[in-house]
Amino acid sequence: MAKIPTSRVDKLLSSMGYGSRNEVARLGKSGRIRLDGNRLMDATKRIPVTPDLPTRMTIEGEPLDPIAGLYILLNKPLGMTCSHKEVGALVYDILPLRWRSRTPAISTIGRLDKQTSGLLLLTDDGDLLHRVISPKRHVTKTYRAKLARPLTGNEAALFATGDMMLEGEEKPLAPATLQVVSDTEALLSVTEGRYHQVRRMFAATGNHVEDLHRESLGGLSLPDDLAPGQWKLLNDDEIALIFQ
Ligand code: URA
Repeated sequence: MAKIPTSRVDKLLSSMGYGSRNEVARLGKSGRIRLDGNRLMDATKRIPVTPDLPTRMTIEGEPLDPIAGLYILLNKPLGMTCSHKEVGALVYDILPLRWRSRTPAISTIGRLDKQTSGLLLLTDDGDLLHRVISPKRHVTKTYRAKLARPLTGNEAALFATGDMMLEGEEKPLAPATLQVVSDTEALLSVTEGRYHQVRRMFAATGNHVEDLHRESLGGLSLPDDLAPGQWKLLNDDEIALIFQ
């Protein structure tokens, strides 16, 4: 059986963004940390760090945040940037402020352009991040593209060839699948994550993407009831869907 990790309470809570170790010590001394309903006054105490801790520990009367191993599914709204440091609205602004100080840090798994909406994953799990973005895994990303001009009918064949070149690049694109929805709308599934890839693929056919929305990643789809700007935590079964 895997050994349950333990941590000092001050170290654990500090890594979750609740403040410096001294600040957490003060929270404890003032009786604002409770474990199983009892005041935990001494924040130097070591406790087992089990996934159920948020159901057993409260900080100032609120359940503890989820412990490390966070998998977040966000419906990214338009106009937000997938960056920690650019000016303007950032996707991280949507999450609780305290989560910006967590260690390990939370990062997006890949990026969507500022003017692309839809399914975006964020995690503090570096292994998962690398597995999802690794070219070897061929995780399919499906985008709904609304176009400025009608499709010519040649796009699907061109995208499927596996030898389409994007301007300024030396390696052809891996085959991609196009499903036509209407004259000016299509679903495009790609397995790579090149810079502005979908927009550049349509630009290469003489078209222009006016609206871009990511609908799914592997077998994981954006739920209909997750409005733009809303997010939810994923469980193990949902994470496994990414690789199906
Ligand atoms: N392709 C793009 O052009 N933009 C995105 O945000 C994602 C894929």
